[in-house]
Amino acid sequence: MYNINQNILFTAIILALCVSAFVHVFLFPLYISPSHTLTKSFVDLEQSLCTNNILKYRKEWARQQCPLYGIVTTMQGGRLGNQMWEYASVWAVARRTGLEPYVPRCIRVRLDQVFESLSVPTLEEIAHCPVDMTFFVNSLDAWNFTRQSIILPRYSLQPDIVLSWVQDIISEFTFKKKLFNKSQQILQRAAKNISHPVFVGVHVRRTDYIGYLWRKHTVQPASFKFYYAAMKYYNQKYKNVVFIVVSDEPAWCIKFFGKLKNVYITSRSIPNSPSLDLAILSSCNHSIIDYGTFGTWGAILAGGETIFYNISQSSVARVGQILPHWKSIP
Ligand SMILES: *[C@@H]1O[C@H](CO)[C@@H](O)[C@H](O)[C@H]1NC(C)=O
Ligand SMILES: *[C@@H]1O[C@H](CO)[C@@H](O)[C@H](O)[C@H]1NC(C)=O
Ligand SMILES: *[C@@H]1O[C@H](CO)[C@@H](O)[C@H](O)[C@H]1NC(C)=O
Ligand SMILES: *[C@@H]1O[C@H](CO)[C@@H](O)[C@H](O)[C@H]1NC(C)=O
Ligand SMILES: *[C@@H]1O[C@H](CO)[C@@H](O)[C@H](O)[C@H]1NC(C)=O
Repeated sequence: MYNINQNILFTAIILALCVSAFVHVFLFPLYISPSHTLTKSFVDLEQSLCTNNILKYRKEWARQQCPLYGIVTTMQGGRLGNQMWEYASVWAVARRTGLEPYVPRCIRVRLDQVFESLSVPTLEEIAHCPVDMTFFVNSLDAWNFTRQSIILPRYSLQPDIVLSWVQDIISEFTFKKKLFNKSQQILQRAAKNISHPVFVGVHVRRTDYIGYLWRKHTVQPASFKFYYAAMKYYNQKYKNVVFIVVSDEPAWCIKFFGKLKNVYITSRSIPNSPSLDLAILSSCNHSIIDYGTFGTWGAILAGGETIFYNISQSSVARVGQILPHWKSIP
């Protein structure tokens, strides 16, 4: 009697545990998922645009008024250079369409570490406003009417639109004073006692990009000959050139450029932050870049002449077709 009761009790407990586990594992997600698929407000949308978890929504930041028409925003993807394009694309598409621009906070948080006073607000400011996902398109070409919003895909690049206001985007990306000061100090140290130096920023992108170049464009990375030829061009054009080499693989640069007398390699021993490296490239007068969004932005912000490595259909080549004073070496 006693034993049977105990067995029944035991079975009941096991059953109860199973039911509870079933509810948690199989049913509970059903209650959660609708809020992910059926976006209700911009705060849910913002989270879905970010690749990482973002800060909590602080209600007191909410603006009074919700947008009357559509907005332009973007998904987050990639590192600093990509996120600068994503931000700049939102900024430019909004200018072109007249829609209000907003970026997800994850992008602003990254860019605010580098730049002084960005003008595009975050989605947090309209977090409380309702969103209707049926009114969204993902490109300017698909956009038909002012009530429609545009969510640009991650890795968006809109060089044609962004660079039609090149001076304005250069001012938008004004470096924080501390980074600017630091980069100026590094340039002065590199110039040593050379009077009236002409600084040429050289971006050498290697490491993981070598594999990417092969997968995306089926090309080998630039050899040292490309950088030598580009340096020769500047050495013939100016006296007192100082080359400032920024790279994710300084050892490769030391091997090929370390013995040249007017070359200064940053990050020889301790790596700089990407933010400082970008400030250094942007402080130079002219540029030599190979590929990638980081070097492209360094050269755009430097605002001088640029020699680039010509890979057809690469983003650098697209920028090179738009901006004057950009050329490749055959
Ligand atoms: C935009 O308009 C064009 C022609 O008016 C139409 O073919 C297209 O389907 C519309 N696109 C959207 C997303 O409404
Ligand atoms: C930048 O450097 C100048 C002098 O070179 C100095 O007056 C200023 O305080 C510095 N600013 C920062 C933010 O370090
Ligand atoms: C720079 O300093 C070095 C010694 O450190 C000297 O040999 C060289 O002539 C100087 N160059 C100029 C342009 O003053
Ligand atoms: C070249 O760059 C340096 C460092 O940023 C700057 O001080 C100088 O004014 C620039 N020269 C020209 C001609 O723009
Ligand atoms: C880049 O290469 C393409 C062919 O691959 C060529 O058509 C184009 O003119 C080149 N651009 C420059 C600036 O040399």
